[in-house]
Amino acid sequence: MIKRRPFEYGVFEDIETVKKYDKENKQRTQRLSKSFISIVKKWEITSGKILDIGCGTGLLAIEFAKNISGVEIIGLDLSDVALEAGRDNIQKSEVMERISFKKGDAEDIPFDDNAFNLVISSNTLHLIMNPIKMFNEIHRVLKPKGKFFISDFRRSWIGIFSKHVRASYSPKEVKTFLCQSELQNWKVKDYFFWLSIFSKV
Ligand SMILES: C[S@@+](CC[C@H](N)C(=O)[O-])C[C@H]1O[C@@H](n2cnc3c(N)ncnc32)[C@H](O)[C@@H]1O
Repeated sequence: MIKRRPFEYGVFEDIETVKKYDKENKQRTQRLSKSFISIVKKWEITSGKILDIGCGTGLLAIEFAKNISGVEIIGLDLSDVALEAGRDNIQKSEVMERISFKKGDAEDIPFDDNAFNLVISSNTLHLIMNPIKMFNEIHRVLKPKGKFFISDFRRSWIGIFSKHVRASYSPKEVKTFLCQSELQNWKVKDYFFWLSIFSKV
C-alpha cells in the first residue's frame, strides 16, 4: 500500500482557491448528492437537523435543502473564506432560510450532545488529523437514533497522481479508527476511488 502523505493544513485559506473549488465542484456535488439523498430518503429522514462537516462552500447543504423540504442544515467548516463563499451561494438559492453555517473543528464540534438527526460529510475525512476524535464527536452530537453518511477518497496507487488520494485513509485504516471510536452500527463500503461510511439500518 502506498504510504499516506497528509496535508500540512487542509483548511481553505484564500478566496481564489475557494472560488475555483466551488466552480469545479458544482457538477460533482450534484452527482454525489443524488447518492447521499437517496440513502437518506430510505432512512425516512424528512425533518430535523442535519450537520454537514467540512461543508466548504455549502453546495451539498443546498442540494439537501432543495430535495428534503422539512430539514434544517448546518454547515460546519474551519475556513472563514469557504463559509463566506457558502453564504454567497445560499443567498442565490431558494432555500436560504433552512441553511446556516458555523465555524468550527470536526474534531471539536461546537454543538450540544444529541443535537442532530443526521450527520453528513463529503471529501473531508482525508483532511482530518485524528479521525477517531471526529467519529467520537459525530457520536456525541447525534441523537440516539441519528444516522450518518460520510464519503471520501480512499488511498490506493492512484495517490501517485493525486495528492488528495495520497492523503486519504485506506478502508482498513478507516475500519480500525471506527472500531476504536464510540460510533456504533457502522458499515464501510469501498469502491475503486471512494469509500463510504454509513449507519447500518
Ligand atoms: C475538499 S473540501 C470539501 C467541501 C465539501 N464538503 C465538498 O464535498 O465539496 C474540505 C473542507 O473541509 C474543511 N476542513 C478541513 N479540515 C477541517 C476540520 N478539521 N474541521 C472542519 N472543517 C475542515 C476545509 O476548509 C474544506 O472546506
